[in-house]
Amino acid sequence: MSSLLPREPVVVAPGAVHVPEWLDPERQRDVVQACREWAQGPVPMRHTRMPNGTQMSVQTVCLGWHWMPYRYSRTADDVGGAPVAPFPSWLAGLGRDAVETAYGERDESYEPDAALINFYDSTAKMGMHQDKEEQSSAPVVSLSIGDSCLFRFGNTESRGRPWTDVRLESGDLFVFGGPSRFAYHGVMKTFSGTADSALGLNGRLNITLRVTGL
Ligand code: SIN
Ligand code: MN
Repeated sequence: MSSLLPREPVVVAPGAVHVPEWLDPERQRDVVQACREWAQGPVPMRHTRMPNGTQMSVQTVCLGWHWMPYRYSRTADDVGGAPVAPFPSWLAGLGRDAVETAYGERDESYEPDAALINFYDSTAKMGMHQDKEEQSSAPVVSLSIGDSCLFRFGNTESRGRPWTDVRLESGDLFVFGGPSRFAYHGVMKTFSGTADSALGLNGRLNITLRVTGL
C-alpha cells in the first residue's frame, strides 16, 4: 500500500532492519511471475507436513535446498523425491543488494543458496520459530509481495516477549542477521484483500533467502 508519507527504514532490533517498499511494482510483478513458475515444480508447492502429522497453513516451494522439518536436502524427500530446482544467480544478486541496503555495506561474499517461497492465503499464519537449520550465521533476507501481514519479530531466548510487531506490505524487505539472526519470528495474521489488484495475487508471497552453510 503506498501512503502519503513514505514509510522509512527501521532498525527493529540490532541486525534486524525493515526497509519498506524496497521492490518497485514492476520488480514485484517479475518476482510473482517467477514464483508462479517455481510453484509448478519439479517439486510442487505444497503444505509442509509437520512431524506430528499436522500441515502448515502456508504453502511452500524451495530453491537450491529443500526445507522440511527440520533439515535441508537436495531432493524433496517428503514430496515425491524430485530434485529441488536450482537457486538462480539473479536471486543471489538480489540478496546481496538487499543486504547492502539493510546494512549500508556491500558484501560480495554473501551467497544465499536456499530460498523458501511461502504463499499465505487469507487464513494462513506462521507460529513463532527460529530459522536454525542453517549452519551459517549469515543474514536471512525476507521479501514480501501481495497482501500485507502482521509480522512479529521477537528475541533469541524464547517465543515470548519482548517482541516488535511490524506490518509487512508489498515490496517490503526485512533482513535479520548479526545478533538477531536466530531471533524467533512469525506471521500472526494476513490482511486479506490488501494487495494491489494489478499483481493478480490473491494472498501473500514471502521469499526468504538463506545461506545454508551445507
Ligand atoms: C518465515 O519465517 O520463514 C517467513 C516469514 C514471513 O512470511 O514473513
Ligand atoms: Mn522463519
